[in-house]
Amino acid sequence: MDKKVAIVTGAGSGVGKAVGLVLLREGYHVALAGRRKDALEQVAGEAGPARSRALVVPTDVRDPEAIRALFAQTKSAFGRLDLLFNNAGIGAAGLLEDLSVEQWKAVVDTNLTGSFLCTQEAFKIMKSQDPRDPTRRRTRRPSTRSPGSPRRRPWTGGSTTSPAARSTSATPRLR
Ligand SMILES: NC(=O)c1ccc[n+]([C@@H]2O[C@H](COP(=O)([O-])OP(=O)(O)OC[C@H]3O[C@@H](n4cnc5c(N)ncnc54)[C@H](OP(=O)(O)O)[C@@H]3O)[C@@H](O)[C@H]2O)c1
Repeated sequence: MDKKVAIVTGAGSGVGKAVGLVLLREGYHVALAGRRKDALEQVAGEAGPARSRALVVPTDVRDPEAIRALFAQTKSAFGRLDLLFNNAGIGAAGLLEDLSVEQWKAVVDTNLTGSFLCTQEAFKIMKSQDPRDPTRRRTRRPSTRSPGSPRRRPWTGGSTTSPAARSTSATPRLR
C-alpha cells in the first residue's frame, strides 16, 4: 500500500500552490482547496500528467460545512488522508491600533479557526484508516502541540493551540 494522499488549503497561489505542485510531482494524490476555483484549476493544469491525481475542491475555510465537504470529497475520491497542509490564510494590513474588530475576526476565523476545523476533520480520517500510515512506520498526523510544549498531550489540543496562535498567526504586524 503506497498511495499517499494530501490536502492543501490555500492551494491557488503562493506557498500553497508551490507545495501542492511538489506533492503532485512526488506522487501524492492531492486535494487542492481554496475559494477561487479558477486559480485551483490553473494550478492543477500546471501539474502536467500529474493532473490526474489532483482534485479541485473550492472551499472557504471559514465555513465549517464547506470544510466537512472538502474532507468527505477527498476521502470519497482517494480513500484516505496522509498529509494536511494547513496553509489558507489572510493578513490584516495596518497598525495594530487601527485594526477593526471585523479585520481581526476575519484573520482569526481564517487562520486559526479554519486550521483548527481542518485539523479536526483530518484527525477523524487519519485515526480511522488502516493502515494509518501507508509506510506502516508511524502515524503522521498534524500536531496541535504548542511550540514550547515538550510532549504531545492528547487531551489539551484546544488549550495548547490558542496560546501558540496568540504569539504567531493571529498577531498583526507591529511597526
Ligand atoms: N508570505 C508571507 O510573508 C507570510 C508571512 C506570514 C504568514 N504567511 C501565511 O502563509 C500562508 C501562505 O502565504 P502566501 O504568501 O502563499 O499567501 P497567498 O498567496 O495570499 O496565499 C494564501 C491562500 O489562502 C487562500 N485563502 C485565503 N482565505 C481563504 C479562505 N477563507 N478559505 C480558503 N482559502 C483561503 C487564498 O486563496 P483564495 O483567495 O482563492 O481563497 C490563497 O491562495 C498564509 O496563511 C499566510 O497568511 C505568509
